[in-house]
Amino acid sequence: MSRIPLIAGNWKMYKTGPEAVETGAHLASLSSDVSDVEIMIAPTHLSLALVSHALKGTRVKTGAQNLFHEDEGAFTGEVSAKMIKSAGAEYAIIGHSERRQYFQETDQSVCKKVQAAVAGGLKPILCIGETETQRDQGKTFFILDKQVSDGLKASGPGDLEDLVLAYEPVWAIGTGRTASVEQVEEVHRHLRSKISTLFSNELADRTRILYGGSVKPDNVSDLMSIEDVDGALVGGASLDADQFIKIINFNK
Ligand code: PGA
Repeated sequence: MSRIPLIAGNWKMYKTGPEAVETGAHLASLSSDVSDVEIMIAPTHLSLALVSHALKGTRVKTGAQNLFHEDEGAFTGEVSAKMIKSAGAEYAIIGHSERRQYFQETDQSVCKKVQAAVAGGLKPILCIGETETQRDQGKTFFILDKQVSDGLKASGPGDLEDLVLAYEPVWAIGTGRTASVEQVEEVHRHLRSKISTLFSNELADRTRILYGGSVKPDNVSDLMSIEDVDGALVGGASLDADQFIKIINFNK
C-alpha cells in the first residue's frame, strides 16, 4: 500500500492569531502546486479557528496540539475534540513529549485522548519517544512498545484507520540533534511490526509513521528516504513558511 507522506508543523506556543494567519497564508501560497504530500499545521487552540478559516480550500490542513477527552463540562481551561473539529481542524497531536514532561500526561490520559479524538472525527497523531537516559539504558524499545500499546489500549483496529504515529526521540526535540538514519530505520520498522502484532498487517500497512526531532531542510531527504518513514513532525523549522516549504518539497 502506498502511504501519502504527511509533513506536519507543530507551532507549539508561538504566534498570535494575526501572525499565525499570516504565516499560514504565506505557506498556502508557497504550496499551491504541491502534490502527493499532505501538509498540516497545528497552531495554538486560540488561533486554530482563524487559521483553519483562512486556509479553507488551500493545500494546508490544520490540527490541534492537544485536546481533553471529555465532550464538554466543567473542565476549566480545556478544549474538546468536538470543539476542535468545529474549528475546522482535521488532526490532533496527542501525547507530545512536552505534554508528558510539563503537564503530567501519562499513557493512560493519552489513551483517553486518542479515543476522544477518534470519536470526535479527528485523526490522531500519537507521539512517542524515549529520553536520552532510556536510550542509554537500552530501554528504547521497551518504552516505545509501552507507549504504543497503552496509548492504543482502548481502541480497536476499526477506530485506528486514520492513525498516525510520530516517533520523536526526546533528546532530538529542539536540540539540533537528529537520530541517525540507522536509529530511525530500526525504530520505524519495529513500530510497524508492533502495530501489526497488536492489530493487523493491514492496519500496520496503512499507518503513517512520522519522524520528529530537529527535522530541517538539509536533513529531511535523508530521513524521508528511509523505507518506513512516512513524513515528519516539525517544530522550530515549521514556524517560517520559507523554511517549511523546503521540508515539504523534500523530493524536489
Ligand atoms: P523540533 O520539534 O523540530 O523543533 O525539534 C519537533 C516537535 O516537537 O514536534
